[in-house]
Amino acid sequence: MTVHVLVGTSPADAARRTELAGLAHRLGAELAFLQLASPALTTRLTQLADAGAERLVLVGVSGGTSGPGVSWLRRIAAHWWRDRGEGAPEVATAPAFMAAESEWGPLGDLARPITHRGPGLTSAAWEDVPGHRHQVLVCRGPRCSAAGAEETSTALVLALMRAGLGDDDVLVTQTGCQFPCNHAPVVTVQPDDVWYGRVDPPAADQLVADHLAGGSPVEALRLARVRREP
Ligand code: FES
Repeated sequence: MTVHVLVGTSPADAARRTELAGLAHRLGAELAFLQLASPALTTRLTQLADAGAERLVLVGVSGGTSGPGVSWLRRIAAHWWRDRGEGAPEVATAPAFMAAESEWGPLGDLARPITHRGPGLTSAAWEDVPGHRHQVLVCRGPRCSAAGAEETSTALVLALMRAGLGDDDVLVTQTGCQFPCNHAPVVTVQPDDVWYGRVDPPAADQLVADHLAGGSPVEALRLARVRREP
């Protein structure tokens, strides 16, 4: 028995879970996610293998600019396949993300099986804790996603690029709900402990120019924060 799995890969895909569930249903496929939504890909693969699937064909989609490359789908699947060991079903991954529904069939046909020589989940480049001076936490929870967090995230990344700030300077991380949902989209700058609300794309530009490049928080966007002491 061959089972096809549609895999959401980016934070934006997690936010459009209902849409992707409908797409998977139309395609006769199972649904899984690489991050921020359930079921996780490895959980789904285990369920399908336990149910007797002999061949699993994975086709990824990426609805946002901040998701991983297509090689990550293969890395995660290869990691699961090696852990599963003897008797694991064949797992094949499509060579590109599906951009249109019409690509589903061709991409499934082009899927290559994973072998024991596939890429792993470790790299020497990932050994050290990074030395960035700021980490920007972009909320991608349900309220912030509905309020335009995808556009906020894209604007932040583009503004950082224009300012010449890379991952070594400012690390941008997508998160689940950070709780002050009424102020969506919410963005937090650490270790400064500065919280921002209603960060639309123009506000994201200002946040980068004034705070991350200029060193001064944007007071007009700042949310009150009372830090509880131990
Ligand atoms: S969804 Fe962003 S703060 Fe709750």
